[in-house]
Amino acid sequence: MLMLIKNGRIVTATDDYTADIFIEGEKIKAIGKDLPVETGHAQSLQVIDATDKLVFPGGIDPHVHLDMPFMGTFSSDNYETGTRAALFGGTTMVIDFILQKQGNSLRAALEEWKGRSDTNCVGDYSFHMAVTDFNEHTKKEVKGMIEKEGISSFKTFMAYKGALMIDDRQMIGLMEEVKKHGGLINVHATNGDLIDYLVAKHRDEGKLSPLYHYLSQPEVTEAEASERFVDMANYTGCPGYIVHLTCEGALNAVRNATRRNQKVFVETCIQYLLLDASLYEKDFDGAKWVMSPPLRQKKDQETLWAGINQGLVQVVATDHCPFKWEQKLMGKDDFSKVPNGHPAIEHRMELLYSEGVNKGKITLNKYVEVACTNPAKIFGMFPRKGTIATGSDADIVIFDPNEKHTISASSHHMNVDYSGYEGWELTGKVKTVLLRGQVAIDDNKCLVEKGYGQFIKRSKVVQVI
Ligand code: URP
Ligand code: ZN
Ligand code: ZN
Repeated sequence: MLMLIKNGRIVTATDDYTADIFIEGEKIKAIGKDLPVETGHAQSLQVIDATDKLVFPGGIDPHVHLDMPFMGTFSSDNYETGTRAALFGGTTMVIDFILQKQGNSLRAALEEWKGRSDTNCVGDYSFHMAVTDFNEHTKKEVKGMIEKEGISSFKTFMAYKGALMIDDRQMIGLMEEVKKHGGLINVHATNGDLIDYLVAKHRDEGKLSPLYHYLSQPEVTEAEASERFVDMANYTGCPGYIVHLTCEGALNAVRNATRRNQKVFVETCIQYLLLDASLYEKDFDGAKWVMSPPLRQKKDQETLWAGINQGLVQVVATDHCPFKWEQKLMGKDDFSKVPNGHPAIEHRMELLYSEGVNKGKITLNKYVEVACTNPAKIFGMFPRKGTIATGSDADIVIFDPNEKHTISASSHHMNVDYSGYEGWELTGKVKTVLLRGQVAIDDNKCLVEKGYGQFIKRSKVVQVI
């Protein structure tokens, strides 16, 4: 299969120029001005005119939860619906989370997750391995996960006690082992004990609405845990990545780490840049935004945008973890039973463009850096993924920067019956998406089937940012 994308404005994390892209099979073969349409090959050539369009690398969302057992139910997008919705929004690859069951092995968890994901993905995918029980047995499994399975990042939870949380002793042991084998630790950095105390207190006082989910996770719960994580990573020398960082206090912990020359990667999520805690004042409707950590204040949004521009925040992900309204109703009489999570996999790229680039908060290059390139670099996939260069996978988004459209649950492709952004009018729309040289999305239709998405083995993590 040969393809030529003609005359697009190609934007990478570092470049911005107009040229043609020639694709052979799954890979980008050549980039240049006015590439000849004659190929000399027997195969037919498909030509896409990208005049007046932006051409980005495929987006990578390194934080999603598909078909995940959580809080007594499963997230409502499975690997098919979730990766397809991602493609509609220009995200060609996701990294999902395997959750080890406490008392069981990492291997058992990997097999369980393969059972749900294998042959079901439309877009490309990988896994982080969440270690919820670090012991002598788990320790021995770390090397094989990195070197054999291509799973080089290990997720840890400092909250959700009893199911997912590990203590500091386990964290340090895991860091030492992961460092030894060239991996990275990502962390949900909130103080689980303090949160559990506040949840119990609010419930005892009969304060049961979604607003109290927010009030049970004040900024200090995240700032304290982020600082502790950064200190443990510094002590062990293990590369660290804080997921879904939301607030000024937590980012200041990282700022201090960078002052002592320690590199800690930070991810925020699109919702923390755009939405704020006033949404919890809508009685039970606030359950749509019950997620952990919760939405914060406007001042935190400013801190996060500034953090992106200062290079302190390297990635904008989603933490896509959708639950249908009937699932959210599990907590109608008690905020602590509302399944935590919010749908966003489809709209991350368009929201970030419209609210970030179009409103002058970030440059186009920064946009590509945080949505496409840095996830590939941090998680061991660059330059196969995350850029437009000869030899890279032909994962490409053709984007109309001027087209206006409105987000609605009635037209989105995620398997969830509401949107956290209902009625938002955006400028800039994904028109065509290529995944490994195949047109996956065109004219608002998905042209690849489930099973097309491949599991991408990742290398040892290289800190090249
Ligand atoms: O609310 C959230 N974030 N749900 C998914 C699990 C997690 O903590 O990332
Ligand atoms: Zn989390
Ligand atoms: Zn998450």
